[in-house]
Amino acid sequence: MKLLVERDYDSISKRAAALVAEQIANRPDLVVGLATGSTPLGLYRYLIEEVQQGRLSLAAVKTFNLDEYLGLAPDHPQSYRSFMEENLFSQIDVVPANTHIPNGQPDDIAEHCAAYERLIVETGGIDIQVLGIGRNGHIGFNEPGEAFGRPTHLVKLAESTRQANARFFSHLGEVPTHAITMGLKSIMNARRVLLLAAGADKSEAVYRAVCGDVSEDHPASVLQLHPDCIFLLDEAAAALLP
Ligand code: F6R
Repeated sequence: MKLLVERDYDSISKRAAALVAEQIANRPDLVVGLATGSTPLGLYRYLIEEVQQGRLSLAAVKTFNLDEYLGLAPDHPQSYRSFMEENLFSQIDVVPANTHIPNGQPDDIAEHCAAYERLIVETGGIDIQVLGIGRNGHIGFNEPGEAFGRPTHLVKLAESTRQANARFFSHLGEVPTHAITMGLKSIMNARRVLLLAAGADKSEAVYRAVCGDVSEDHPASVLQLHPDCIFLLDEAAAALLP
């Protein structure tokens, strides 16, 4: 596990964009795993700037998002598909058919999860997976207690996660109770993992992920076992590290 600490959120966003852009420049058909939430927004803004200024193209890139709320149609304003369209895809030259996000309204959930996992493998596997981290150590929507060996699957969201995400909805009751998420096994299969964390409220989760026991009680701790994992942190998120 490699730790990179930058002064603030803008600095980690810029450095993350440089890392991702460099990999795309080296391999234009890179397979990139993407996350939603507040943390990667700065990274996405810098990638958009690179593309719009003609220094980077994602025309051959393929993307796989980590997760989607169960029950939300792709065009629901709070779906992760809408989030990605608004904050990244609509502003860059990625080919829409090359962007993959679990469907929040599948006919058969188990079959949809298996098909998503197969598609990742058939596409050649994820070259770099971008992650945020939840205050309880979740990555993707893999909440504490999730088995490390699971591929894409249905999860029940922790109440703390629903409350943290309620800011995107008009009230807590609207936040879905379940989601489809890539599993910890899917994440560990990525060739490289780039976890971003900013702010003091992530410092405890980061500390346990880096220095704590590798335990299903803290899902991000599994990343200690990944051969090429980078934690890119601002000073506040890194504050508890030795
Ligand atoms: C998002 C995701 C989540 C978030 C995490 C942190 O696709 O899978 O694990 O990365 O909840 O969210 P923010 O960045 O909003 O603090």
